[in-house]
Amino acid sequence: MAKTMDMRGRICLITGANTGIGKETAKGLALLGARVVLACRDMEKAAVAKREIEAEARQDAVETARLDLADLRQVRSFAREFTAGRDRLDVLVNNAGIWKRRRETTKDGLEAVLAVNHLAPALLTLELLPLLKAGAPSRVVFVSSDSHYSGRMNWADLQFERGGYGPAAYRQSKLANVLFAKALARRLEGSRVTVNALHPGVVATEIGRDYPRWLLALAKPFRMTPNEGARCSVYAACDPSLEKETGAYFRKSKLVPASPLAENREAQEKLWAMSLDMLRQAGISLPPVD
Ligand SMILES: NC(=O)c1ccc[n+]([C@@H]2O[C@H](COP(=O)([O-])OP(=O)(O)OC[C@H]3O[C@@H](n4cnc5c(N)ncnc54)[C@H](OP(=O)(O)O)[C@@H]3O)[C@@H](O)[C@H]2O)c1
Repeated sequence: MAKTMDMRGRICLITGANTGIGKETAKGLALLGARVVLACRDMEKAAVAKREIEAEARQDAVETARLDLADLRQVRSFAREFTAGRDRLDVLVNNAGIWKRRRETTKDGLEAVLAVNHLAPALLTLELLPLLKAGAPSRVVFVSSDSHYSGRMNWADLQFERGGYGPAAYRQSKLANVLFAKALARRLEGSRVTVNALHPGVVATEIGRDYPRWLLALAKPFRMTPNEGARCSVYAACDPSLEKETGAYFRKSKLVPASPLAENREAQEKLWAMSLDMLRQAGISLPPVD
């Protein structure tokens, strides 16, 4: 691993940290001295992950908190309770994600992949901005995917109500991560809160749990371990060389260009506006960004 920051005294919140890349990211940050908060929808799984991380890092390195990204009101109340109890946040890793075979909707009536992978992390980040600003220099990391390169924004039907579902919904959500990260980074220039997105690699995790095993087996020989897959997230969260890097996209702990569409400022602003509209239409009033 490249040079890393001494993370002692830092608070890092990682979503979807009970398994896969998120758990290994939390472990990596805890091993560097950070206090990590595992924000998970299943508290039993979170407790198991906490025990595992504390056994390798140190006792009292880990907190757990309930966060269900498929429920926007719960996301907001989580963020507000989290904020009420502290004076700073150093790192937010928006890691949790889903990949669905068939279209599903969340409690808010939103298409689940767009909601869990993009809209809820966007809301969480906006709600936590005051705490991140209080912790500045601080970092927001969006775990996107190289699948965003083949992604398109289905602008006329972002929730795939008119068909065309399948891998397109996942790729769109990962493209939305990069577009949103770049739009937010622009808004936060000068605040010393950086916002970046990344591809973790092709990693053997539970992300394909909705797909047939035989299909996943085809990719098996090429997949990295979750520990290897977490390296780029840990890098983005704390490598000292990135202190001023914002609006960037990383793969294998290197800055690389995102797709032409992700780099398109008009698309970034369109996604930003449409995302905030969708959140408002779901009955969520948003905090000011500046
Ligand atoms: N694996 C890869 O090859 C790969 C490649 C590119 C990008 N990624 C990205 O990497 C990130 C991590 O995925 P992974 O591969 O580690 O997958 P994973 O093993 O399936 O882990 C996903 C995590 O997200 C959590 N999650 C799902 N729905 C949630 C919800 N409604 N609220 C809160 N948490 C929720 C899961 O919790 P439960 O266990 O309770 O379901 C789990 O902790 C994702 O954003 C994914 O898109 C992965």
